[in-house]
Amino acid sequence: MILAVGNIKGGVGKTMLAVNIAVALAQRGRDVLLIDGDDQASASTFARIRSDLEVSKLTTVQLHGAAIRQQMKQLSAKYDEIIIDVGGRDTGSLRAALTVAGAILVPFQPRSVDLWAGEQIAALVQEAREVNEGLKGYALLNVADAQGRDNEDATAALSALDGLEPLSTSVVRRKAFPNAFSAGLSVLEFSPKDAKACGEILSIVNALYTRGI
Ligand SMILES: Nc1ncnc2c1ncn2[C@@H]1O[C@H](COP(=O)(O)OP(=O)(O)OP(=O)(O)O)[C@@H](O)[C@H]1O
Ligand SMILES: [Mg+2]
Repeated sequence: MILAVGNIKGGVGKTMLAVNIAVALAQRGRDVLLIDGDDQASASTFARIRSDLEVSKLTTVQLHGAAIRQQMKQLSAKYDEIIIDVGGRDTGSLRAALTVAGAILVPFQPRSVDLWAGEQIAALVQEAREVNEGLKGYALLNVADAQGRDNEDATAALSALDGLEPLSTSVVRRKAFPNAFSAGLSVLEFSPKDAKACGEILSIVNALYTRGI
């Protein structure tokens, strides 16, 4: 019900995934709130562009630091699903989100330098479990190559992280993601439709929500 999409590493696709998952859930008839917990406010910019289009509305609020924790009780009573996009550093917002979330989805890019940050975020997730016992942590490979060794190496490295479970789906580098995002749309709504991009988002949503986070 409360999903954080976060990593201490920037530019790994947190916002792109957060908005696509939010739209996918809205399309399933869920009442979704997207919380923009990042100072750069790119999820809010997305929502603003979107608000001029004839597509389903995506309710978005900006909340930072302790406010994420303080307002969650009230907000979670109002919405079926909450998705929190939390910034690319070890911020108060990320820590606050980890105390209230049912799960965190941590995107990684398949380059070893990004995986170093993996140990730090995995440690933060473990630490958060001291106060939020049921917190689940999922690692996801994003901006993966369509094929090749790097993906396998990265998947193996993600499997070795204590505290994060790797999702079996990964997301390949596809133009549809930035193209849809800059138009204020999910890949599920964007035309021309990229069936593979849509399939990747839907299998992430299935993996996360059929387990009942
Ligand atoms: N699978 C993908 N294929 C192609 N481009 C992608 C993919 N995932 C993300 N991108 C692009 O990579 C860039 C970074 O993604 P995004 O802004 O979602 O990352 P972020 O982790 O939220 O970054 P920040 O830390 O700055 O908030 C964006 O231009 C986005 O459109
Ligand atoms: Mg972002």
